[in-house]
Amino acid sequence: MAVNLARRLLNEGHAILAIDDLSRGKRELLAEFNEHPRFAFEQLDCGDADTLSSAVDKLGAQIDHVWHLAANSDIPAGLADPRIDRDRTFQTTFAVLDVMRRHSIPELHFASSSAIYGDLGDREIHEDIGPLLPISNYGAMKLASEAQIRAAVEAFLPRADIFRFPNVIGVPATHGVIVDFIRKLKATPDRLDVLGDGTQQKAYLHVDDLVDAMCHVSQLPGRYKVFNIGPKDDGVTVRTIAELVRDRVSPSANICFGEGNRGWIGDVPRFRYSTERLTNTGWTPKLSSIEAVRRAIDQIACEESRNWSKP
Ligand SMILES: NC(=O)c1ccc[n+]([C@@H]2O[C@H](COP(=O)([O-])OP(=O)(O)OC[C@H]3O[C@@H](n4cnc5c(N)ncnc54)[C@H](O)[C@@H]3O)[C@@H](O)[C@H]2O)c1
Repeated sequence: MAVNLARRLLNEGHAILAIDDLSRGKRELLAEFNEHPRFAFEQLDCGDADTLSSAVDKLGAQIDHVWHLAANSDIPAGLADPRIDRDRTFQTTFAVLDVMRRHSIPELHFASSSAIYGDLGDREIHEDIGPLLPISNYGAMKLASEAQIRAAVEAFLPRADIFRFPNVIGVPATHGVIVDFIRKLKATPDRLDVLGDGTQQKAYLHVDDLVDAMCHVSQLPGRYKVFNIGPKDDGVTVRTIAELVRDRVSPSANICFGEGNRGWIGDVPRFRYSTERLTNTGWTPKLSSIEAVRRAIDQIACEESRNWSKP
């Protein structure tokens, strides 16, 4: 997602200092910007405020916006070791805010998540719903990040946007259900094991739509804005995704489903997401969930086969 956002911001004429500790990101994903005169990269831990502050000093230019995407995006890993979410999701937000205060950086755009809502069953999830009871440590650390940002807006931060979105798909693909299924089929072309019984149904947003929505919201007036971002439909089942990936990648494979309607602890099996606040501002996604899934399967299958054919 950071690559797609960087591409968009550079095209709009902005200059970027990209920061990643490469714990999950890969430097080569940013290779297309290597020669770009308005792009710089630093490999460092955003959770370390002093190091982050030094990188801002070294840049020697006033920064106007921070797009804070750094986090642990591996939800099951955070279940096995909660320190991962604390360090990569909570602490990065703490340090980013500290550095924004020290350097008087006025605007923060924060990638939150639908995971902050927890499992609300059939209730339609709008931005003001409550109580917020996340069921994953990842969701808890995102919610705690949002709380820090809200307090910072009261104390010193002139503007903040909070983007709450569900599953994002597209390329480059670093993780997620589609890339997971494609890699499993590469390893065992005659069998695809699926976590859960396949009935989990989720909304899927294509990364191109997400970046467009975030840029749209960043232009809206308001000191503190919170927006759900997602498609307008109720989503696609894991069974449908498994079948579409199988048909595209290894048509003769058997799909073997697990048990229960959760892929892992903290997985929300089904939710109804309201994006009315966003659509009322005049923005709608170009792709529905199923269209996004079909496009992403095609894009990721091509990307993965290029990776496999590399020596
Ligand atoms: N992809 C989704 O479906 C989805 C859904 C909701 C929210 N989000 C959020 O959007 C953001 C981007 O997600 P993504 O899918 O591109 O995930 P990603 O894992 O590809 O990107 C997160 C990046 O943060 C970096 N990072 C982690 N800890 C760091 C640290 N301490 N210092 C510096 N860099 C660090 C990782 O190396 C990685 O490159 C994340 O905050 C994620 O939680 C993603």
